[in-house]
Amino acid sequence: PFTLVLARSGRSMDLPAGTPLLPALRALGAAVEASCEGGICGACRVRWLEGPPIHRDRVLKPAERATDCMACVAGCAGPRLVLDL
Ligand code: FES
Repeated sequence: PFTLVLARSGRSMDLPAGTPLLPALRALGAAVEASCEGGICGACRVRWLEGPPIHRDRVLKPAERATDCMACVAGCAGPRLVLDL
């Protein structure tokens, strides 16, 4: 399990390990675009502040992964994932 935290709105939600972020973000009221929902289009890119995320996408370059993740496929490798939302 991990805690998904939205830094700007101050909202958070506890999620089971392996849960995709996108439905949780919608439930928390975050406005995140999405299209493919499979980690290939880049629409759902979000900035992360604390992690690390598990990436699973096919669009981000290694340097981009240091700051961003794809909400439709990303998970969390630690106890807390903080997003810049
Ligand atoms: Fe396409 Fe996430 S919706 S990469």
